[in-house]
Amino acid sequence: MKINEHFLDLKDSYLFATVGRKTAEYKRAHPDKEVIRLSIGDVTRPLAPAVIAAMHKAVDNMSRTETFKGYGPDQYCYAYDELLDTILASYARKGVTLEKGEVFVSDGAKSDCGNILDIFSVDNTVLVPDPVYPVYLDTNIMAGRKVVFADANEGNGFLPMPDERVQADIIYLCSPNNPTGAAYTCEQLKAWVDYARANNAVILYDAAYEYFVTDARCARSIYQVEGAKECAIELCSYSKTAGFTGVRCGYTIVPHALVRKGTSLNKLWARRQSTKFNGVSYITQMGAAAVFTEEGEREIAENIGYYRENAKIISDCLDSLGIWYTGGKNSPYIWLKCPNGMKSWDFFDYLLENAQVVGTPGSGFGANGEGFFRLTAFGTHENTRRACDRIRALLGK
Ligand code: MLT
Repeated sequence: MKINEHFLDLKDSYLFATVGRKTAEYKRAHPDKEVIRLSIGDVTRPLAPAVIAAMHKAVDNMSRTETFKGYGPDQYCYAYDELLDTILASYARKGVTLEKGEVFVSDGAKSDCGNILDIFSVDNTVLVPDPVYPVYLDTNIMAGRKVVFADANEGNGFLPMPDERVQADIIYLCSPNNPTGAAYTCEQLKAWVDYARANNAVILYDAAYEYFVTDARCARSIYQVEGAKECAIELCSYSKTAGFTGVRCGYTIVPHALVRKGTSLNKLWARRQSTKFNGVSYITQMGAAAVFTEEGEREIAENIGYYRENAKIISDCLDSLGIWYTGGKNSPYIWLKCPNGMKSWDFFDYLLENAQVVGTPGSGFGANGEGFFRLTAFGTHENTRRACDRIRALLGK
């Protein structure tokens, strides 16, 4: 028996597990202090009423023989038509035409980010931005793939552009970006699409935060860029869009036009999913199917508006302190420069010990994140305001 030794190349623990452990240690040592978490991007608003009603109805259907559901339909890898239709309609509103067979429903973008790698050879070179959502990097380290980095930094507004000298086969892009909150315009994404096509590469485009885009120039889907269907897979999630972090549902788009050496990547992914996955629960799918309806969209827009207000509260606080940051406009994340040249984990400790506010150290997202820090707008108004008051009182000194 041999273990997969590539696991030994990983850092000891997943970033958010380390943040959680350090926070728990602090709370144990200071039971009298109240800690406010603006660290992991986990939502706090309840599900939209339209989603709840649809899930209740689905539960009732499960209670009667005539309406009971077992495995989902296998034609579209266990996704129900009701759900697929709403996903296609939401794309149509963004000006993108898709077919049902191009949409794969899953239990979330994080799982698909890792699982999609099954269809690619381990010999591929992978390009990931630095800093980056740790899942892209860790899943490739686990598989033993060669990883190269695209420099995201203050100079390029944390939006790296393609470098013709770099040869990559798989490219990860996330826009609006986790962790930096920076968002690509369609024009900028066009350069990536051109680069991918010229290099025969495939882009894995994480659009989990697209509902936070307000700037009309920024992309909501990579397929808004001409030629993207021939070179990109898009990963989407109901987690941040509709508060599904505890429900689990997402969808991945693998266009029929994505073909390499005569092989359809859509067919490979369908084969992978039908073999290793039995679909998302009927109740969850019915809840998700209520998200992109007229009523659902109105209700989720209210929740997203709520988080946007939090982002504004945080941005205003940083503005008043003269602290540099990106994000917060088209994104629920605010990526700030640690004051006085502090290192990320030092600032984490400083903020926890002196203001009892928890954020995420930028260095946990990559070497280029050193000296930066991420705050999330997914908290409650009350906690966000109180955290900002504490930050202002501490750093304004
Ligand atoms: C984050 O805080 O970066 C997100 O919660 C990660 C995720 O969605 O898995």
